[in-house]
Amino acid sequence: MTAPARLTPSITTPPGDGQVYDVERIRRDFPALRMTVNGKPLVYLDNASTTQKSQMVIDRLTQAYTGEVARVYSPHTLARQVTDEYEAVRTRVAAFINAARKEEIVFVRSATEALNIVANGFRAELKAGYEVLLTMMEHHSNIVPWLVACEQIGAKVKVAPIDQNGDLQLDQFEAMLGGRTRVVGITQVSNVLGTIYPIKQIVAMAHARGIPVVVDGAQAAPHLPDRRPGHGLRLLRLLGPQAVRPGRRRGALWADRMA
Ligand SMILES: Cc1ncc(COP(=O)(O)O)c(C=O)c1O
Repeated sequence: MTAPARLTPSITTPPGDGQVYDVERIRRDFPALRMTVNGKPLVYLDNASTTQKSQMVIDRLTQAYTGEVARVYSPHTLARQVTDEYEAVRTRVAAFINAARKEEIVFVRSATEALNIVANGFRAELKAGYEVLLTMMEHHSNIVPWLVACEQIGAKVKVAPIDQNGDLQLDQFEAMLGGRTRVVGITQVSNVLGTIYPIKQIVAMAHARGIPVVVDGAQAAPHLPDRRPGHGLRLLRLLGPQAVRPGRRRGALWADRMA
């Protein structure tokens, strides 16, 4: 049996191109890591939940709160400057996740908010007897909104199984993509096991049947270099608090255009 793909800590792995992964230099970027806890230097391992902030992020936030407080899209000078900054961030987020156009990016408070928006949006596509296909590995943010929508409409949530290694049973997943399936909701990287799903293959299977896919990229977006699991078809991609970005909760909802 081949070993399943996993996200693993890369502290001992050089990043390639002959560069050395300089842990101490990276730690220096994060003031929180200078703290001592129980008399020892802080070792912070809860990054799958939320990350510490780098000095660069803290400085940029201070700059924003010092001289850039205005309502975006208001007509006065300060607001226009802030709007330019705001739209520049949209462009940078689009580039970061390889979105084709910045208009595909919607800022949200969190992955949970984005998934609720998406699930509510899909209500129009669901009727009694229709199905939403999820997997056993979903975060509850990608379960509850679908359960609520389906319960109110009389549609069904079906759950594709995983094996004992945490890998999706692809043949069973494919068999569950039926004529009644209206949407697939799937995480790209499990927040529980770090399993990396073969998302391109999964998206291709669904799209071959004309079924849109909602990809929860909360864990994948900060880690995986290939952030675009499909091209030109409807696909929604979410970032979560695991990115080293300011604030407790920020995210982006990415809606690819339909082909
Ligand atoms: C896979 C996954 N999806 C969704 C979420 C929810 O993210 P947020 O806190 O941005 O709502 C998390 C949070 O850990 C997650 O790991």
